[in-house]
Amino acid sequence: MNPNKALWEKGDFTEIASFMRESGEAFVISLGITTPLLVMDLGCGDGTTAVPLALLGAEVVGIDIARNLVDAGNKRAAQAGLNRLKFQEGDACNLQGVSDHTFDLSLSVFGAMFAPKPFDVAKEMVRVTKPGGRIVMGNWIPNDPTSFVSQLLKISSSFTPPPPEGFVSPMTWGVDANIIERFGQAGVPKENISMEKDTFHFRSPNKSPADVVESFRRFYGPTMNAFEAAQNSGKVEDLHAQLLELANSQNKGIDGGTSIPATFLRVTVSL
Ligand SMILES: C[S@@+](CC[C@H](N)C(=O)[O-])C[C@H]1O[C@@H](n2cnc3c(N)ncnc32)[C@H](O)[C@@H]1O
Repeated sequence: MNPNKALWEKGDFTEIASFMRESGEAFVISLGITTPLLVMDLGCGDGTTAVPLALLGAEVVGIDIARNLVDAGNKRAAQAGLNRLKFQEGDACNLQGVSDHTFDLSLSVFGAMFAPKPFDVAKEMVRVTKPGGRIVMGNWIPNDPTSFVSQLLKISSSFTPPPPEGFVSPMTWGVDANIIERFGQAGVPKENISMEKDTFHFRSPNKSPADVVESFRRFYGPTMNAFEAAQNSGKVEDLHAQLLELANSQNKGIDGGTSIPATFLRVTVSL
């Protein structure tokens, strides 16, 4: 089994995505799309951005490596009566079966950054996007104390064994120079790339930061792995305390609810 696929099928990302819906909608609105528009949402999960895109009238193909999330996405599309929204299984490193120059917009919000071969990802995103189209990515930023998920992953990885040699951290997608190098190798001049910091919010009016940590512990592959490793080393309480401290210290929610801002790098590539 492909370890990248296994990691994301291990948990149930729909449980985490439930905290991200509002920001997913806001992100899509900020794209200022006009229809007709054919969009790829790569690493789409169960449709945090794909569903609002389709609701705005775009035709959307959601591509994700995790079978369970593709199924969950298709279920959401059917429930919402969105027949121009389809989810299918695929790997951002090799979008075989997707023709060159298909999409007006290729979007990947915290998705393609998790694929193991970043140069192939950039090449594939450029290949399947139409000349004159655009690519938009949202990527967590390494070592940024306000980038909640990057901090959560940093804590999680400090409890797991070191990754295999040659592993490229997903967080490298949050560094300007890497973006320029990766899309540069795919033939995009740096003048066609813009980058800015933006904020996603993990929100739930009726769940506490402790509930959010519990969801990551039970349903988010990288954190599940960290807890398994911590179990073996007798450090579960330490891991839990560090994650709780992170979530509580960043929470801006009121009345026991959660609203955790998370800074990310928004990348726009014009082709
Ligand atoms: C953090 S989740 C984000 C999901 C969705 N974009 C959202 O914002 O709710 C990361 C997603 O990327 C997907 N993914 C990871 N590696 C992938 C790859 N190589 N190709 C396609 N999807 C991938 C995972 O299955 C997961 O759905």
